[in-house]
Amino acid sequence: MTHRDGMTPTSSGFYVSAEAPIASDHPVPTPEATPPDILRCAYMELVVTDLAASRAFYVDVLGLHVTEEEDETVYLRCTEEFIHHNLVLRRGPVAAVAAFSYRVRGPEDLDRAVAFYTELGCRVERRPEGFTRGIGDSVRVEDPLGFPYEFFHDVEHVERLSWRYDLHTPGELIRIDHFNQVTPDVPRAVRHYQDLGFRVTEDIQDESGTVYAAWMRRKPTVHDTAATGGDGPRMHHVAFATHEKHNILAICDKLGALRRSDAIERGPGRHGVSNAFYLYLRDPDGHRVEIYTQDYYTGDPDNPVVTWDVHDNQRRDWWGNPVVPSWYTEASLVLDLDGNPQPVVARTDTSEMAVTIGADGFSYTRPDEGEESMPEWKQGEYKLGHQL
Ligand SMILES: [Fe+2]
Repeated sequence: MTHRDGMTPTSSGFYVSAEAPIASDHPVPTPEATPPDILRCAYMELVVTDLAASRAFYVDVLGLHVTEEEDETVYLRCTEEFIHHNLVLRRGPVAAVAAFSYRVRGPEDLDRAVAFYTELGCRVERRPEGFTRGIGDSVRVEDPLGFPYEFFHDVEHVERLSWRYDLHTPGELIRIDHFNQVTPDVPRAVRHYQDLGFRVTEDIQDESGTVYAAWMRRKPTVHDTAATGGDGPRMHHVAFATHEKHNILAICDKLGALRRSDAIERGPGRHGVSNAFYLYLRDPDGHRVEIYTQDYYTGDPDNPVVTWDVHDNQRRDWWGNPVVPSWYTEASLVLDLDGNPQPVVARTDTSEMAVTIGADGFSYTRPDEGEESMPEWKQGEYKLGHQL
């Protein structure tokens, strides 16, 4: 009997289940308190070491819109946004993430957030005036996994720029889509975020049930955040959406024209997980940014949970392009509520890179034929040291 006995195989190569097929053997306790009603991921506060360089990257290259700026801080938003910001760039000594911020349904959800995390013994700080400009009453916590999470409802409204085509670039970023968090124990993270009200939409496992990554949503798309297995807590990436695929190609063309193609880490491509079209960039501090478009609707309560085999070489790229090692190993530090980097704890479960592209790793294109069925020239793409 394998771990997959409860899953239904599909003609696309992945499996589906009615409920998330992930269990933690040492979960964070489930609080008695009702969790805050989270609407969506809303903004990230990034600490950057060279504010001018970061502003040039996010505003001049990627075209995010400046809502407001000060000497030490720039507040940026996407085209469709009507709240003050989706990204805060704040100058600081160490490049890191200061907050993964979620909007909640109402003011009473701030009280719920305080009660939920207080019961868990987490450090909690509430500021009626907010932690950033443009945002009112807010709660920040050091969550049980070590991530700086923020919850807010009150916010300054600004103009939605969707109709201002005169301001749009060919690679216009229209929405913040999701966060991605690196954490050593993915099942423990999934269970905790389920307690916080998230639903799993997809995951990557091996046949024995080791979980390498999981995607979780509040808004009805594939995710608001994902847990990626690795040394953590760290931030893997923050993602912004474009309308269509061609907008992502336009960003690549622009980076080439600016002789900034070295900002491109991975892609463009089509994900297996999420079915979205993607591009991964690295900002001047190395913070990873994903440009993402065209995933699918997940809002029904019986939305099937998708499980990918870690050895399926179409899981991370539907066209079978290999993942570069830096994408697996590098990520940004996260800060505690005093602004100090959280210590990073090593993952002890097997790593996705090791089992797929390491010396002993293997992957397949057709599950019933195995790795040897791939052309010889293709097999080497998936092994470290074979790339030129
Ligand atoms: Fe992503």
